[in-house]
This record gives sequence, structure tokens and C-alpha cells, in this order.
Amino acid sequence: MNKGFFVTFEGGDGAGKSTQIHLLKEYLQEQGCDVLLTREPGGTQISEKIRGILLDPQNGEMEPQTELMLYAAARAQLVAEVIQPALQAGTIVICDRFLDSSLAYQAYGRNLGEAVLQVNQYAVRGCMPDVTIYLRVAPETGRQRIGTREQDRIESESEQFHRRVYEGYEALARIYPERIVTVDAAGTIEEIEQTIRAEVMNRIHAVSGGNRK
Ligand code: TMP
Repeated sequence: MNKGFFVTFEGGDGAGKSTQIHLLKEYLQEQGCDVLLTREPGGTQISEKIRGILLDPQNGEMEPQTELMLYAAARAQLVAEVIQPALQAGTIVICDRFLDSSLAYQAYGRNLGEAVLQVNQYAVRGCMPDVTIYLRVAPETGRQRIGTREQDRIESESEQFHRRVYEGYEALARIYPERIVTVDAAGTIEEIEQTIRAEVMNRIHAVSGGNRK
């Protein structure tokens, strides 16, 4: 059984995940918790190499099935090499995106359906988040936030694709209401920070029975 606690952050591109992830990490460290921050795709030498292939705008000919399996491969490596050992050591792991990204982007965005869950269940071997913070942002707003900076292969997908990803996240939040907490990304940075902090602390206390600070 894991002694640690596993938090993932999800949302469409431009939802403001990075800011909130760093704020939560700092807060938990101030509370004396051991925190490990990682990201997907990436977080290990092998997974970062796979990330390079996945996000390279020159790989426009990539098949959706190839994309699905590369994301899952990067995830399998990250779980085995980083996440699972850290959880077993009692660390709080915060991951910027996880399996729900594949469900939203590949199952809904690419219309790959049920296969996405099956492949990913195989990849994560039961290692599932204790809580997932879903930062909800309308795709049009997310796009504006990304602005004019250079876009990677997924960001530069069509408006329809990003709309399907958004609908995917909304569906996932309905399917897994115990695990996925929806936080409206339209609030101020401080409001969102407070909401996330309260949700995460409540759940940490619930699983640790008050043993953790
Ligand atoms: P990032 O920009 O948040 O680092 O994520 C990289 C991109 O990859 C982002 O557009 C979302 C996409 N993605 C998927 O399509 N499927 C996945 O499983 C993951 C983790 C990310």
C-alpha cells in the first residue's frame, strides 16, 4: 500500500496549470511535506525523449494510434521509475497531467474510444491519482491565453479538436466525481489557489487519518 499521496492536474491548453501547481507545491513544502513534482509526457530520461517526438510540430504525419501508445509508453516509464517509488517512500507526488489527459485528448479529441482506457490501465498498473484537479477553461479562452507563442503539435490542432478535448474533460468529471475536482479557471489566481489547497488538504487528512501535518 502507498504511504504517499498522488495529486494530478488536468485541463485544456492554457488553463493555468503551471502557476497553480507551483503554488500548491510551495504550500505543501511550507507545511513540512515531502513533495515531488513531475510532468507528463516526461519526467524520466526516456519519457522526455518520447515527449520530444510527441510534441515536435514536424511529426504531423503521426497516426492517432501511434500517439496514444507513445503517451502510454512515457507514462509506464514514469510510473515505474518515479511515481510508484516516491509514493512508497511516503512522498506527495504532484503530476502535471496524467492518464486523464490521454482520455480527454486521445479518446475524445482523437476519437479513439475505449482502447485508450485499456492501454492506459495496462501502462499505470493500478497506480491512480488520489485526487485530480481539473482546471476548467473554455477552449477559446485557453487559446487566447497561449497567445502568439510558438505552438507544439497538439496545441496547434484545430478548434474542433480542442472543443472535443474540453467536452472530454467535462465527461470525465461526471464519470469520476469522487476523484476529479472541477475548479473554474476563471477565478483569480488567489481564489483558485485557496480552493485547490482546501480540496487537497481535506483529502490528505482523510487518507492519513490526521497523521500527516
Ligand atoms: P503540456 O503542454 O501540458 O506539457 O502537455 C503536452 C501536450 O500533450 C498537451 O497539449 C496535452 C497533450 N497530451 C496528450 O494529448 N495526451 C496525454 O496523455 C498527455 C499527458 C498530454
